[in-house]
Amino acid sequence: MASTKLTPVLSEHWGEETPWKLASYQAHEGYEGLRKALKMEPSEVLDLVKASGLRGRGGAGFPTGLKWSFVPQENPKPKYLVVNADESEPGTCKDMPLIMATPHTLVEGALIACYAFGAERAFIYIRGEVVQNTRRLQQAIREAYDAGLAGDDVLGSGKSLHVQVHSGAGAYICGEETALLNSLEGKRGHPRLRPPFPAVEGLYASPTVINNAESIASVPAILRKGSDWYQSMGTEKSKGVTLYSLSGHVKNPGQYEAPLGITLRELLDIAGGIREGHELKFWTPGGSSTPMLTAEHLDVPLDYEGVAAAGSMLGTKALQIFDETTSVVRTTTRFIEFYKHESCGKCTPCREGTWWLVQLLQRLERGEGKPGDVDKILEIAGNIGGKSFCALADGAVACVTSAVKHFREEFEAGYHTPAWELLPYEASVLFPEEEKVYE
Ligand SMILES: Cc1cc2nc3c(=O)[nH]c(=O)nc-3n(C[C@H](O)[C@H](O)[C@H](O)COP(=O)(O)O)c2cc1C
Ligand code: SF4
Repeated sequence: MASTKLTPVLSEHWGEETPWKLASYQAHEGYEGLRKALKMEPSEVLDLVKASGLRGRGGAGFPTGLKWSFVPQENPKPKYLVVNADESEPGTCKDMPLIMATPHTLVEGALIACYAFGAERAFIYIRGEVVQNTRRLQQAIREAYDAGLAGDDVLGSGKSLHVQVHSGAGAYICGEETALLNSLEGKRGHPRLRPPFPAVEGLYASPTVINNAESIASVPAILRKGSDWYQSMGTEKSKGVTLYSLSGHVKNPGQYEAPLGITLRELLDIAGGIREGHELKFWTPGGSSTPMLTAEHLDVPLDYEGVAAAGSMLGTKALQIFDETTSVVRTTTRFIEFYKHESCGKCTPCREGTWWLVQLLQRLERGEGKPGDVDKILEIAGNIGGKSFCALADGAVACVTSAVKHFREEFEAGYHTPAWELLPYEASVLFPEEEKVYE
């Protein structure tokens, strides 16, 4: 049965009473990974994480240990770890539940990572709106300091390892790692030119590693259980387990932790399927910036290679499920409105291009499109993707081009029929009463 595939590691204790407290965390070998790490040479810790095959869970899947190894140890400047907990991608909702349920996993992971590549300080950059998560994280850090697990002499090792939280101000672009660094330095959240890469010249022009919250939270279990254990899960090139977030038209939305390579068909099976009486129309494998897929792709292995071979990206594993009642024109328009709003404005193709895409998409949604609009959308998208300064623009384009590729006729129907006549919105909304509040 597919359900045997669920492998809770990060989420193992989420259902328990007060899993966020230090005592609860320590009842399940919490901070044993840090104790073990401190008895090893930093380079051994780094090699262990490298050998585990852990890859970044922030979207691109870059090998975590390898990233740490890029930090030049001969550089006399302080080295920093920056944990990316900005989580603003539409559909992405794994780091916040993780922080809410077991913040100590992240704190312990950050301390181990700092030790491994010679940093003395970690900054956890968290999106500004999530005040309750920020408080929970701060509380966990305070508990760790009080217990001697963080500070100037961690567990009597003589090692100085510090962690602190920094709240952003709610800009999606500040999740892009170099814009995040600017924001952390108190500057405007605009992406930086690379090179120099952050590993060489990052925060305060010092060597810096930037990792996603889930990537760092995965580290303590690897220290405790070893790289062979982690390697034994997942697929050939995508090792370990990860949090898949199911949302939308699915019976039981939520976090499902499973080995990399599970399929959407299997996950839907575990999550109770598509809502009663409906069928899958399209889905995103990893948030709105990963190309949409359809029911044809239900058996694609959800690992970095499998999703890429299907023409999309695993991204943040934010599986947004849309059934046959959903207007793809409406969905795409809402997504592009988001990218237009969040474009930082630094470069012209993204700033102007997303604005024009919104104009054309809204026209199609109203049924007032003009023949040729769909080609114009593709042409504009072609002038944005790969021609802009950062990957925000590529994500925006991926969403619209994939939607047109799979559902061109529905977009062309916008030359004469409003999207709400073709597919009445009331049929697709999940919370009609709440929808009214925002009208
Ligand atoms: C517009 C934009 C937003 C991003 N938002 C996030 C985010 O919220 N969290 C995150 O971890 N990575 C985000 N990323 C990816 C980061 O730039 C970076 O690749 C990631 O934090 C690296 O961590 P990892 O190696 O552990 O995956 C974003 C990238 C872009 C282009
Ligand atoms: S691509 Fe968009 S978000 Fe990125 S730098 Fe250019 S304007 Fe800013």
